[in-house]
Amino acid sequence: MPGDANPQMSPAGEAPAPRSGPRHVAIIMDGNGRWAQARGRPRLFGHHAGARRVREVVECCPSLGVEYLTIFAFSTENWKRTQTEVAGLMSLFRRYISKEMNALAEKNVRVRFIGDRVRLDAKLIDLMDKLERKTAGNSGTQLTIALNYGGRDEVARATKRLARDVAEGRLDPENVDEETLPRYLDTHVLPDPDLVIRTSGEARISNFLLWQSAYAEYEFIDTLWPDFTAEELARLCGSYGRRDRRFGAVKT
Ligand code: IPE
Ligand code: IPE
Ligand code: MG
Repeated sequence: MPGDANPQMSPAGEAPAPRSGPRHVAIIMDGNGRWAQARGRPRLFGHHAGARRVREVVECCPSLGVEYLTIFAFSTENWKRTQTEVAGLMSLFRRYISKEMNALAEKNVRVRFIGDRVRLDAKLIDLMDKLERKTAGNSGTQLTIALNYGGRDEVARATKRLARDVAEGRLDPENVDEETLPRYLDTHVLPDPDLVIRTSGEARISNFLLWQSAYAEYEFIDTLWPDFTAEELARLCGSYGRRDRRFGAVKT
């Protein structure tokens, strides 16, 4: 199970010290287009550079005590981009999965995908399934890739399944509470994110993990995603540790 690499665990196996770093980090990887534009190159050049940053970020998670990493790769709104960019991104996702499959499996990373697969092409879906299956037994970093993901779309799809369970008598509407809907979300096996990072200077969440981030801490940083490094993630995890998360209560 995740937690093996928790640096807060005392070596003597006594009660662990309270965790100070985030357990679940979610990243809105933004700024690839501007990074390419600044170099006079096409947007896809930036997406390729962005994809190359993912490995370092995934690999530094165990040393930071980050058990869950969720990355936003493609939103339900990104279909509005040109056909060239969308097709280029889809081909990049296929290449990325094929290329990284063995390294992820060997590094004990478990990969899951969230988002709606309906609009994705069959070849990409096959690769996603293959990567999920190949890494299903891994106990290291739990990497979730949000692909054709939108928070509102996810809640709508979850509500549809919930309504079906009510209609077919499996769920009593009187028993629906705050614990019910998350069981229908794509993220049902994941804890809520503790820290959400958005690169590229935009201070918005663009439909990412709407329900799950209700009490997340946010970091909006100017770095463009292709320039993001493990050192920067370490710095953000450090400053997360100095925040006071009150969850609506008053500390006495
Ligand atoms: C993020 O970079 C990657 C995706 C949304 C797929 P962008 O492509 O949004 O880059 P900018 O925001 O235009 O610079
Ligand atoms: C959010 O970035 C989606 C991803 C990073 C995959 P966008 O670039 O699509 O968001 P907006 O359009 O600036 O809100
Ligand atoms: Mg963007």
